[in-house]
Amino acid sequence: MINQPQENSLQHIAFIMDGNGRWAKKRGMPREYGHTVGAKVFRRVAEYCFRQGIGTVTIYAFSTENWKRPQKEVNAIMDIFKNYLKMGLSEMTEDNIRIRFLGEKTPFAPDVRATMEKIERKSSANKYNLNVAVNYGGRAELVQAVNRLMQSGVTHVDEAALSNAIDTSGQPDPDLIVRTGGEMRLSNFLMWQSVYSELYFTDVLWPDFTDSDVDAAIAEFHARNRRFGGV
Ligand code: FPP
Repeated sequence: MINQPQENSLQHIAFIMDGNGRWAKKRGMPREYGHTVGAKVFRRVAEYCFRQGIGTVTIYAFSTENWKRPQKEVNAIMDIFKNYLKMGLSEMTEDNIRIRFLGEKTPFAPDVRATMEKIERKSSANKYNLNVAVNYGGRAELVQAVNRLMQSGVTHVDEAALSNAIDTSGQPDPDLIVRTGGEMRLSNFLMWQSVYSELYFTDVLWPDFTDSDVDAAIAEFHARNRRFGGV
């Protein structure tokens, strides 16, 4: 099944949470502090979107390219992520939120992977969908999907088959992708799924991103004229 977005309906919103490092530097703090605050904002924003009736939220937490950052920063992000797995994400599963991780789990330590898988299992019957993209890259996701299909013995691939083999299989494509922090690019995020997404860029740095900033992005989305290649 191909999950084309529907005109005017906001079923899936995705966020590239950029600007944590700059936000911290502006305050004379280490970049890692920006990520700590950013992680709290992530939870508030996701829960706010669900309260607005949006069924699926995706957050780009860590890309396949982010491993290139200084080891100290990578370690700090992984520590925040691990703490979040223990507390925040587990609590969110009790709020009827289904959590799935997009991206390849193998680089994570066995205990971290086990916790990720447990959270996915435990929340699998929940109502609201939260995708956390960690060690995620759109190209890596497509390559992995093709390899999966080849291993299953297929000799011909169509769009529906590929849609079913990627990490967001069965979910609607994002209607709206929001990037904070002023950069205007997708940085290897949801390559396949974003073809008809509306893009919204704001200079607001992620730790400053409020519920009214979410409202502004949603209002802009509803003002857009989506044609999906038609007239
Ligand atoms: C982008 O800001 C942020 C990241 C690459 C990492 C974000 C990670 C977390 C908030 C922690 C873990 C995630 C979860 C889901 C709890 P940047 O560092 O690129 O900011 P800059 O552009 O100002 O340098």
